Amino acid sequence: MLLTTAIDYTNGSPHIGHAYEKIITDVLARYQRLLGMPVYFLTGVDQHGQKVEQTAAKEGVSPEEYVEKVTARFSALWAKTGVHYDGWAATTDPRHKRCVQNILTTLKDNGQLYKKIYHGFYSVRQEQFLTDRDRDEQGNFGPEWGEVNEIKEENWYFKLSEHTAWLQGFLEKSDEVILPHFRKAELMNALAKNDGIDLCISRPKDRLQWGIEIPFDTEFVTYVWFDALINYISFAGYGGESADLPDFATTWIDPVHVIGKDIMVPAHGIYWFCMLHAMGFSDEQMPRLLVHGWWNIRGDKMSKSLGNVVDPNLLADTFGVDALRYYLSRDITMGKDSDFDIERLVMLFNTELANELGNLCNRALNMSQRFTAGVLHCYLPLTEEDIALQQSLVESINLYRDAMDHFDVSKALEALNRHVVNCNIYAERMKPWEMNKDPEKKSRVATVLYHLAESVAHCAVLLSPVLPDAAAKLAEQLNRTDLMSLTLDQLSWGLLANDHQINLPSPVFPRIVVPAATP
Ligand code: ME8
Ligand code: MG
Repeated sequence: MLLTTAIDYTNGSPHIGHAYEKIITDVLARYQRLLGMPVYFLTGVDQHGQKVEQTAAKEGVSPEEYVEKVTARFSALWAKTGVHYDGWAATTDPRHKRCVQNILTTLKDNGQLYKKIYHGFYSVRQEQFLTDRDRDEQGNFGPEWGEVNEIKEENWYFKLSEHTAWLQGFLEKSDEVILPHFRKAELMNALAKNDGIDLCISRPKDRLQWGIEIPFDTEFVTYVWFDALINYISFAGYGGESADLPDFATTWIDPVHVIGKDIMVPAHGIYWFCMLHAMGFSDEQMPRLLVHGWWNIRGDKMSKSLGNVVDPNLLADTFGVDALRYYLSRDITMGKDSDFDIERLVMLFNTELANELGNLCNRALNMSQRFTAGVLHCYLPLTEEDIALQQSLVESINLYRDAMDHFDVSKALEALNRHVVNCNIYAERMKPWEMNKDPEKKSRVATVLYHLAESVAHCAVLLSPVLPDAAAKLAEQLNRTDLMSLTLDQLSWGLLANDHQINLPSPVFPRIVVPAATP
């Protein structure tokens, strides 16, 4: 699988929406590895365009200097939050520029591009030309467009309209291309209305310098979206011109683009599919779009003007990377919006990790040290409770796997948590701390602790896509670091052998204590 994220605009600092998308894609990539499947994870930054040029000018620096500084903020955040990508797509990379220019040349040679004069309105904020359909009921261009200018301009166009009939048919016959499925209707509606409109793919240099030059008409640069979308193939080695990029044929395998709902229509759902079609990609080679929802703040959109932008760096520093990754994976359903809420971040960490999983680990590892000198042993016969606990794990793994296969990370974590809760209920019913007082029950104590430790071993593996560092610590404490290289198919009861010696435990999920003064 090729997993990509949107490439983030380098016109500001990364916010929680950016962090969510990269972290969830990192989780999905790690899950593919857990399945033993080859995966290539591509992410990066979208560095061209008018917005970037304007912000750089405002700050009195060159666009090059500006994007370098902002790009570093993004890559530092991914390093800090454990987002481990295989490829970094930065659109100012000369290898990308070369690929975009080659594609432009080929499309022009194939009669897919033409030049024409446009007279109408242009939104600077959205960097796009407006049509009458973009007017509100009063006939005005609403505030979402920002500054709107009337212009008359000659530009290059891509014959999008030659491909929309194909796209409609292609989407109609497939229920797997747009995920989750409920997003498809929105795209089909937009497509039905788009009929006959071509895509302007250039900007004259007297208006915008900061872009990739059109190779056959050097007074123009490429429109930012046309440039940005191509990152998905340029950095996967398309065209084969750059020896240090991956091999396209073996990298462009089951491509899935993880994107936010705001950039499905028209960019990915219409432009990108049509661009690929014009380049000669077959239906089988088309990517899937995994469209996620947005994090809002108390029901409001997060925005600079509302001053409610959540800084993921600050969250990671305050609550830890585990709490941030867990919250962003756990408290949103794929495709739906969610309200960002620090209290829930703390609550979910404290309840599901510090209390429930932490308790299970503590019981399994600490009591094994105290009662059986850290040596695990499962004695027969098993009781009904033992068998029920093993069954609970099987059910959780099945649910987890099904959810993850459907990109539903939150549901997978819920399934994992269910087994953890069952383990603690089991422990409370078996009461190994009581049984241990009775010398006759030593073997039962060992068996119960074995069941808890074996559960921790499974949980470490299942948790590893979301919290890789915490999972590795658990494996280390179990004295089984090799657990981290198991595949999901290798999970079955009995990972821990009889007489296996575990290491000394230490808490992996220390409770978050919120100072009273924090709002
Ligand atoms: O759109 N919650 O860049 P971008 C969740 N450069 N996701 C959010 C979000 C929020 N509150 N706000 C933004 C761009 N996102 C283009 C992409 S791809 C070839 C070019 C998501 O920095 C947004 O939906 O504005 C998008 O997927 C990603 O963050 C980058 O947004
Ligand atoms: Mg955006």
